[in-house]
Amino acid sequence: MTMPDLSTDYLGLRLRTPLVASSSPLTGDLDGLRRLEDAGASAVVLPSLFEEQITGEAMEIDDLLETGAESFAEALNYFPELDDYSTGPERYLGLVQKAKAALGIPVIASLNGTSPGGWIEHAKLIEEAGADAIELNLYLIAADPDLSATDLEARYAELVRSVRGAVRIPIALKLAPFFTTLAHTARQLVEEGADGLVLFNRFYQPDLDLETLEVLPRIAFSSSDELRLPLRWIAILHGRVRASLAATTGIHTAADVLKVLLAGADVAMTASVLLQLGPAHLRRLEQGIVEWMSEREYASVRQLKGSVSQKAVADPTAFERANYMRTLKSYSSRFRI
Ligand SMILES: Cc1cc2nc3c(=O)[nH]c(=O)nc-3n(C[C@H](O)[C@H](O)[C@H](O)COP(=O)(O)O)c2cc1C
Repeated sequence: MTMPDLSTDYLGLRLRTPLVASSSPLTGDLDGLRRLEDAGASAVVLPSLFEEQITGEAMEIDDLLETGAESFAEALNYFPELDDYSTGPERYLGLVQKAKAALGIPVIASLNGTSPGGWIEHAKLIEEAGADAIELNLYLIAADPDLSATDLEARYAELVRSVRGAVRIPIALKLAPFFTTLAHTARQLVEEGADGLVLFNRFYQPDLDLETLEVLPRIAFSSSDELRLPLRWIAILHGRVRASLAATTGIHTAADVLKVLLAGADVAMTASVLLQLGPAHLRRLEQGIVEWMSEREYASVRQLKGSVSQKAVADPTAFERANYMRTLKSYSSRFRI
């Protein structure tokens, strides 16, 4: 059996496989990073440096992580000390440098800014520290009724433009799925200089406690069911934007990885499943892809990439509204409603 060629290009980086470890506590220290590389990760995305940390404001994610870690005892082994997760800029830049020195695979740093100056300044520092690329984590809940979609999207465009002007390394944008016209916005942000889109960020949804009437920050791991949202959008955007595409949210199995590649992703990023099962799960994913490709005589990931994207399929409406009507019809005929 000849081994299929799993290599893929992402943000101009040649990667051995499409399996990338997404930003999570696992990528927050050298031990976790080494274990990910040993298990076959082809690149790693470090946790985000949050501008709030830089300015010393309260770190909400700390609270989130603490609650999350307690409610997922089985994951505790994989969580580095929480103190280490949210690091100030010096420690963060130190992590970038150490990761670059220790690993042979590309290291992508991640930034979540709040002020335009903060994004630019820290993107430059991250580049100087040696990161191979930078992921801009646009994690924002647009809760201000005075802020319109047009205004916010203009800010995002300005942000990409200014970071593009400040650094030479490739820039990826990690987006939320909540845009009215995602395809249009995605294309605009790519035109401003984004080299890649990471679809999608997964927001933590707070819950309410009916006993204490408190708001509970809850971190819940994803499941494969959540894959459908990024899967559809990767399929729609493949071949329509001049940018690399990374799928994230709900990638747990080799089948999930294959689906996003067929839809047109250049890489599949995982966090939840690695926190739950440990980095070694990456080996199972790689083995599963190789088996599936070999059985069907695919010679390379390049060959299968995008072959079931919206542009490639015979029925492009399968990814759009018309599909809804058909799905409902088949549902009602099956269940006679
Ligand atoms: C505990 C935890 C911490 C995370 N921290 C970050 C982060 O700092 N920056 C970021 O961009 N994404 C972060 N993520 C999101 C993941 O990178 C990923 O995009 C998301 O969990 C969806 O992928 P999954 O379904 O494989 O978990 C975090 C996820 C988890 C579970």
